Amino acid sequence: MSFARLLGTLSLVLVVSAGNLVQFEQRKSAPAGFTSKGPAGDDHPLSLRFGLASNNIAGLHEKLASISKPGSPDFRKWLSADEVKAFVAPSEETLKAFNSFASANGLKTTETSPFGEWVTVSMPVAKANKLFGAKYTNFTHADIPDPIMRTLSMSLPSELVNHIDVVHPSTAFALPDPGPRKPIRLGGLPKRAATAPENCDVSDRNPDNVITPACLQALYNIPATPATQENNALLVTGYQNQWAQIDDLQAFMKELRPDYSAGVNQTFLRLAIDHGTNPQLPGKSGIEAQLDIEYVAGIATGVPLQFLTVGGDDFLISLLHTAEFLASTPFPPTVMTTSYGREEPSFGNSLANKICDGYAAASARGVSLLFSSGDGGVNGNHDDPWDCELFVSVFPASCPYVTAVGSTISFNPEIAVNFTGGGFSEYFPLPSYQTAAVDAFLKTVPDGLPNFNRAGRGYPDLSLQGWNYLVTFNGQRIPVSGTSASAPTVAAMISLVNDKLIAAGKPVLGFLNPFVYANPSIFNDILIGHNSGWECPASTAGFDAAEGWDPLSGVGTPDFERLLAAALAT
Ligand SMILES: *[C@@H]1O[C@H](CO)[C@@H](O)[C@H](O)[C@H]1NC(C)=O
Ligand SMILES: *[C@@H]1O[C@H](CO)[C@@H](O)[C@H](O)[C@H]1NC(C)=O
Ligand SMILES: *[C@@H]1O[C@H](CO)[C@@H](O)[C@H](O)[C@H]1NC(C)=O
Repeated sequence: MSFARLLGTLSLVLVVSAGNLVQFEQRKSAPAGFTSKGPAGDDHPLSLRFGLASNNIAGLHEKLASISKPGSPDFRKWLSADEVKAFVAPSEETLKAFNSFASANGLKTTETSPFGEWVTVSMPVAKANKLFGAKYTNFTHADIPDPIMRTLSMSLPSELVNHIDVVHPSTAFALPDPGPRKPIRLGGLPKRAATAPENCDVSDRNPDNVITPACLQALYNIPATPATQENNALLVTGYQNQWAQIDDLQAFMKELRPDYSAGVNQTFLRLAIDHGTNPQLPGKSGIEAQLDIEYVAGIATGVPLQFLTVGGDDFLISLLHTAEFLASTPFPPTVMTTSYGREEPSFGNSLANKICDGYAAASARGVSLLFSSGDGGVNGNHDDPWDCELFVSVFPASCPYVTAVGSTISFNPEIAVNFTGGGFSEYFPLPSYQTAAVDAFLKTVPDGLPNFNRAGRGYPDLSLQGWNYLVTFNGQRIPVSGTSASAPTVAAMISLVNDKLIAAGKPVLGFLNPFVYANPSIFNDILIGHNSGWECPASTAGFDAAEGWDPLSGVGTPDFERLLAAALAT
């Protein structure tokens, strides 16, 4: 056989493969609970978001590891939006590949993200099916009002392979967060609340104690003195029409922070993206929103607060847009807290990774990102149908570029509560900052547990009280429980530390995890607890709290004085 003929054969193969479809993502069936209603309809418009490959995402990860690592020369030299963009933006080559594909197929970009790594293109369903070897189908679910269009299989034209990280919507089926986190009531308000909620005896081991700002201040040595720095902000996110009402907030402050006179006029800056709204209307409080805003206000005395309402009915896109907003805005808050999440499989690997990179970008700006770790113990976050024998991780808590917060209960001793979300990511590998802590824990795990990824990122990172928080909700006082309560309180503590750092002319804490794992002495180690979930019998499989880090309480609960001392020392 001659050389020339061989070359000829090869080039023929190349010609055939250009424009070929290459399998990109697929799933066997829709997740449980979704029902197919047949083809979506050829002419129906479909808005597809393409997550383009960033030109140097590994560079961003490396830079973030360096600027967040105590002792490194560029420690806490947080990046500007332009510096982040230099890593995140797609390469010329990727843009060229995408744009020539789009123009060859008559597709027009309707939206581009601030750093250019996401582009939205609208086309009829039939065209999407043809271009991407897809079969967009309508699926319904009891928890969502309208059918959603998804495909079980998605291919990419060969010229786009390696230029596209993710396409959405395609194979990811995320439900909205189940929150408003159902308030966990213990037969109504415990008696103490009605009598003297401000008298909190933290030496008492009664788990039914009501938590108030005063209890948290006493338990974690949090100062009540107002912050002084204007150049500092703590942002609370609100999704799914969870509205925060100023009236309820002010009533809460008046009652539970009587020592802080300005609390009667407590307010927050209202921000919105994606046409989110937050009307101030009597009776329209969201329980999650109220819990979050009341505990950041009640703990972060005097810190400027922001409430970001994110509109839209696709939770995945809401999370993505929040990360983009934080990473690209000229003056980001120094801390963000989010008490929403879903099981990892409902995001899918590619989308979870791309959103997590959005958090890496926001973290690199110097924003501390706090997320609740979920309220389903080892079994995800109220997933339906519930399987007590299946370990499922919750995202975004499982993203290594955020700080995940679990829950404790009782004072003396403080223990990890059974619903606290925790485990090991299936999508994200173990980050170096927690390798030693996680390896030590894994040695304590007994045989015979359901499958989990021993090489995955472990979460939560830390924890705090999460049981029976007193909340003012539509004029009523109600007790609310969940990791939803723990995350805002940690966020508030971090923002008070930032106030002191700014006053001392130092950079803010920013991405917390490397600092957290390098300073275990800041935390009260939690030694007791089993997170088999609230709904599953205590005898079912879960993890057990252990000395040092564990996937229930993380490294433990923070002591403000020790936290501040460590922050000022570095
Ligand atoms: C599919 O779902 C979309 C969005 O909910 C809806 O507008 C459309 O009419 C549905 N198509 C069919 C064929 O029912
Ligand atoms: C609260 O605001 C009202 C109206 O602006 C003002 O009269 C009052 O002095 C303020 N109270 C405190 C304690 O700042
Ligand atoms: C979870 O903990 C709470 C509080 O201690 C307790 O009331 C509840 O019964 C526990 N649930 C299970 C299934 O053990």
